[in-house]
Parts: sequence; C-alpha cells; structure tokens
Amino acid sequence: MPSVYIKTYGCQMNERDSEAVAAQLVAKGYTLAPSEHVADVILLNTCSVRDLAEQKALNKMENLAADIRRSRPHVVLGFMGCMAQSRGHELIDRLPDVDLVVGTQKFHRTADYLDDIFAGRRDKVVEVEEEKGSEATIKEHLLHGRGDANGGHRLPLQVTAFVSIMQGCNQYCTFCIVPHTRGEERSRTIPDIVKECRELVSRGVKEVTLLGQIVTSYGRRRSPRPSLSPSDGDRLAKPVERFLPDRGSGVPIQDGKSPFVRLLEAVHEIAGLERIRFTSPHPRGYGDDLVEAYARLPKLCESAHLPVQSGSDRILKRMHRGYTRERYLGIIDKLRRVNPEMGITTDIIVGFPGETEADLAETLSLVREVGFDNAFVFKYSPRRDTPAAAMPDQVLQAVIEERHGRLLDLVNEIGKKKFQDCVGRRAQILVEGPSRKNPERDLRITRAGSFTLYGDPAIVNLEESNHE
Ligand code: SAH
Ligand code: F3S
Repeated sequence: MPSVYIKTYGCQMNERDSEAVAAQLVAKGYTLAPSEHVADVILLNTCSVRDLAEQKALNKMENLAADIRRSRPHVVLGFMGCMAQSRGHELIDRLPDVDLVVGTQKFHRTADYLDDIFAGRRDKVVEVEEEKGSEATIKEHLLHGRGDANGGHRLPLQVTAFVSIMQGCNQYCTFCIVPHTRGEERSRTIPDIVKECRELVSRGVKEVTLLGQIVTSYGRRRSPRPSLSPSDGDRLAKPVERFLPDRGSGVPIQDGKSPFVRLLEAVHEIAGLERIRFTSPHPRGYGDDLVEAYARLPKLCESAHLPVQSGSDRILKRMHRGYTRERYLGIIDKLRRVNPEMGITTDIIVGFPGETEADLAETLSLVREVGFDNAFVFKYSPRRDTPAAAMPDQVLQAVIEERHGRLLDLVNEIGKKKFQDCVGRRAQILVEGPSRKNPERDLRITRAGSFTLYGDPAIVNLEESNHE
C-alpha cells in the first residue's frame, strides 16, 4: 500500500483534521511515511487566516512539485484544509502538478479520492462542496504508543488528545475568512462527543482539549440554518446580511446553563479523565455559567484563552466582535475572582483598518490591565471577500510592523514577569512522555524563560524527605 505524509499548517483544528485523515488512511491500509522524501502521497493541510500562511503552503507545494516532477513522478500531491476550500480549482490551475484538492467538509472522503486516483478512475480531484453531517466525521484518532499503526515507529505514549466538537462559525468578524472556509456552525451531539472522549480515556488519554472555532456557540444551532433564498444572493458578497442578531434559532438555555457548559459537565463525568481544556471561546457568548464552571468542575484546567483582538471599542465595533472593552474586562475579572491564579491568554490583531495611535493605546492599556500570561499578536492581513479588506482606511504596512513590535515587547515583558513569579512554586504537571526513573509527578519550578518554565522533581522529593 502507498505511504502518506501530511504536513499541517495553522490551528489545532487543522492538527486534529490531519490526525483524523491519517487515521482513516491507516485504517484503509496506507502507511505513514516518516518524511515527504519517501512518501507516495504528500498532503498539505492548509491555513487561510493570514496571507503568510497561504504563501508558505503555496511555496512548499511549488518546491515539492518541482522536485517530484524530476525524480518521483508517481507521487500524488494534494491540498486539504482552509485554502483548499477557499481557492478550489484555482490551485490546480496555478500548480498543475497538484492532483487533489479536498475541502473542509470532505476530509473523511480523502481515502476514496486517493483510491480513485491510484486506480486511474480520476485524473484530478477537486471536492469542496458542503456536506451535511460532516462535523461528526472527524473522530478517528491515531494514538501514539499503543497501536502498531505507526508504520513501525514507536512513538511516545499519548496522554493528551484534541476532540472536535463543532465546525464553522457564524460570527462573521469583518477581518476573518474562517466562516467562509469552515462554513456554518454545526455541532456534534453531546453523546457522540462523550463517546469519543471515553474511548480516548480507555486508550490512556488523561487530558482532552475540546476544539471549535467558537465553542461558546456550541449547540446553539441544532442544524445548519435553512439555506439562503436566492434573493439573499452570494453570502460572500453580502456578509452584512449575517450581522443580524441570532434570533434564538438554537437550543434554549436549560437551568441557566448553555449547551457548552452542559457538554463540559458531561465530559467531566468520565471516570479516568483528569483534565479538560477547550479552545476557543468568544467573549460574546461567555456567560456566567461558564465562569462558574471553573469553580464547579475541578477537571477544568485553570487556564482560559479568550481572544480580545483589540482594546478599542471603536475598532471592536468595526471588527463586528459583538462586545465592548468593558464587557471583556468584566469576564476576566469574574474569572480571576473564581481563581486568582487563572492563566489567561489571548489573540490580538494590530493594524486593523482605521486603527489610530489612540486605538493602539487602548489595546496597550488593556494588555497592561489584564496582564496576559501570553498573547498571540497578529499583523492584520486583508482576506478576500471579507468586509475589512474593502474598508478604505487600510493602515500602512510599515505602521503595522512598528505597532506589532511595540505590542509584542509589552506582551513579552508582562509574560516574563508572570513566569518569573512562578519560580519556587510547586505545580502538578502532566507528563507527556514516559518517565523511565521517576514516578513522581509534581515538580518545583526553578527557572523561567519567556515561554517555558523549567522544573525539578528532585527538589520536591528532597523537600518531602526533609519533612519526615
Ligand atoms: N475563533 C477562532 C479564530 C481563528 S483565527 C479561534 O480562536 O480558534 C485565529 C486568530 O487569528 C484570530 O483570533 C485573530 O486574532 C487572527 N486573525 C484572524 N483573521 C486575521 C486577519 N485577517 N489578519 C490577522 N489576524 C487574523
Ligand atoms: Fe473568525 Fe470571529 Fe469566528 S475570528 S472564527 S469569525 S469568532
């Protein structure tokens, strides 16, 4: 059987999708190639969120194609993921050596498409249509360590796993391409997700991360909205139509709890599961029920990733984020009241169209006020068919670069101080690889970098023997 190599760009959702595709292919008898140089099939799982991510994947494919045309013409080349979805056939027009383009709702059919290509039934495959029910198809896992499906490679035992709970996003932030590449919000059912988590736990997983583009909207829409009438026209051309408030098409709040919190409770019940994380929530749907979940559900890790994007109300409004600075700070305040130690991270965009020095000053002051443990700072990148790309007051690239540098310096300075404060503390850790010598799990943090903490279990052991 042919061997496959998948290279992943972008977010955790993409990592999860790649893993599921790999698992499906392995189940069909394919092996996983250790590198692109020996693979019979090379798939690039792409990201469209910023232009840079698209360019990376395009350049990579160009280089692969040039190399493969020369030395290994039998190799099948394919694109999957968000850029495959948004560019479709255009990718093959541009790179004629590409054989396969698989959109975000067609991942689960990748093996069939490859079969068709290998059997000579189809020359090129471009599949980017919507598919009902596709949100429930990403559930195969390739857990390392246990199985023998690793192509002979013995990988470390996997104790953490990603679980996709929903697909798509209906928020239509004016800068964001995701609603176009991932489609309408569609949620899996609670029993389906719990079943997947249980299976993972039975295979040794201790921590799951529940994934969705906007998990706070989980389960609010029972099924995809009825398709738009023709008069609604092309949704890409008229995203403003989507800015109407959600008229409660979803599942009602029960006992003051949103469907997402009910999902957390159900997953929390699973015996043997030790930790739960999720990403990403949206401040707009971040209710008190979710804040309180941190107090009630001990398996929920004390960390929150809550994208803010900007500290300026004027910019937040132009971004169509659906909350104010005050509302955002209010959520952080409540989270800190539940647990003052809560780790808080965020995403910020600099140089959104119309951003002034005064707006940036608001963002800088919000960053200081919250004191994020870390923040992903992105330079605004115009995405096609998004309203922000057509806004007249685009910020000059040189200005974006300069603001990006200033914000990043502040974020790093605060993060470093936070980590420095951890030195000397004792913490529980999740060991991701097998420990050959030491069964102890706690360690004493001895040193801090900007993004890494270093610890020593030996010191904890020493303290304990001193106490005896
Ligand atoms: N809700 C999703 C967002 C996916 S995009 C999630 O958090 O999983 C991830 C981040 O990329 C966004 O939070 C935003 O900060 C950044 N981003 C999205 N579109 C962008 C653009 N056009 N330019 C720059 N950054 C962008
Ligand atoms: Fe994108 Fe905004 Fe949704 S950032 S993924 S449109 S919440």
